[in-house]
Amino acid sequence: MVAAGCGSAGGSGGGDSITLGFAQVGAESGWRTANTKSVRQAARDAGIELKFSDAQQKQENQIKAIRSFIQQRVDVIAFSPVVESGWDTVLKEAQRADIPVVLTDRAIDSPDTSLYETFLGSDFVEEGRKAGRWVTEEFGDAEGTVRIAELQGTTGSAPANDRKQGFAEVIGNDAKYKIVASQTGDFTRAKGKEVMEAFLKSAGEIDVLYAHNDDMALGAIEAIEGAGLKPGEDIKIVSVDGVKDALQAAADGEINYVVECNPLLGPQLMDLVKKVAAGEQVPKRVEVEETAFDQQAAEKALPDRKY
Ligand code: AHR
Repeated sequence: MVAAGCGSAGGSGGGDSITLGFAQVGAESGWRTANTKSVRQAARDAGIELKFSDAQQKQENQIKAIRSFIQQRVDVIAFSPVVESGWDTVLKEAQRADIPVVLTDRAIDSPDTSLYETFLGSDFVEEGRKAGRWVTEEFGDAEGTVRIAELQGTTGSAPANDRKQGFAEVIGNDAKYKIVASQTGDFTRAKGKEVMEAFLKSAGEIDVLYAHNDDMALGAIEAIEGAGLKPGEDIKIVSVDGVKDALQAAADGEINYVVECNPLLGPQLMDLVKKVAAGEQVPKRVEVEETAFDQQAAEKALPDRKY
C-alpha cells in the first residue's frame, strides 16, 4: 500500500499497488540484459507495476522517460543514469512533483543529494582497484615497462570514470606501468573489437588489456585472434562484470582475471522502492557484495552462473 499523504510519493491513482517508473540505460551488454531481467522479475515477484523505458544509451531519452513518468504520476522513479552529470533540472521536477527517486547501478555527480533518496549499486572505484592490483601482482617481477591498453566504458558514465580512477590509483604507484592506449568502446562487444583492432595497429606492443567490461574484452579477443595473437597469453586480459561468456573465456585461458560487478539488483531495488514509497528512511547508499575470478575460480563458478 502506498501511504498517501505521509510525506512520500504523489502516487499514480490512489490504488493499493506501487507503480515504478524505471529508466534503463539500454541493452549494451550481457550485464545490462541480466540487470533488466532481474528488475522485471523482482517487480513481478513484489507485485509492483513496472513502467519500463530503454534509453538506448542516450541521456536525452532517459530525461524524456523521467518526464513522462512524472506526468503519469508514478509512485517512485528509479533509473541507472547513462552519464554522471546533467540531472539536476529533471530531478528537481520530480522533487517538485513529490515523486521519490532511487538511483540504481550508476550514480550521479550532483552536489544536491536531496534529489534522490538512495543509491543501490557497486563500488566501481574498488572494481578498478581490483583490476589494478591483479596487474601489479601478475607483472610484479616483470622487468622493463608493462604496456597497458585500456578499453573504457561509455564516456562520462560512472563506471567508466570510477574504474579508470581506481585502476590508475593502483598502477600509478609504479612508473613501470604505462597506459599506451586508452579509448572508449562504449561497453559494447562490437566497439571493443573495433577499438582493439585500432590499438593493435597503432599502439606498438601491448602486454595487458584492461577492459572496463566483459563485452568489450570479448570483442577485443576477436581482434587479438584476428591479428594472429593468443588472448590470455600474448596479451593478458583483465575485465569487469563476470558474465557467463567471460567466465567461459577465462576457463578457456583467453581472459586472465574477471572482477565481478553484480547485476542482480532487482530484489534489493524493490525492497527500497517499497520503503521510499511508504515514506520510510533508507540508507543513502547501499552497496552490493562482489568478488573476482582468476581462471580456476571462473571454471568453478561457471555451472552456477545464471547470466
Ligand atoms: O553500469 C554497469 C556497467 O554497465 C557494466 O559493467 C557494463 O557491462 C554495463 O554496460
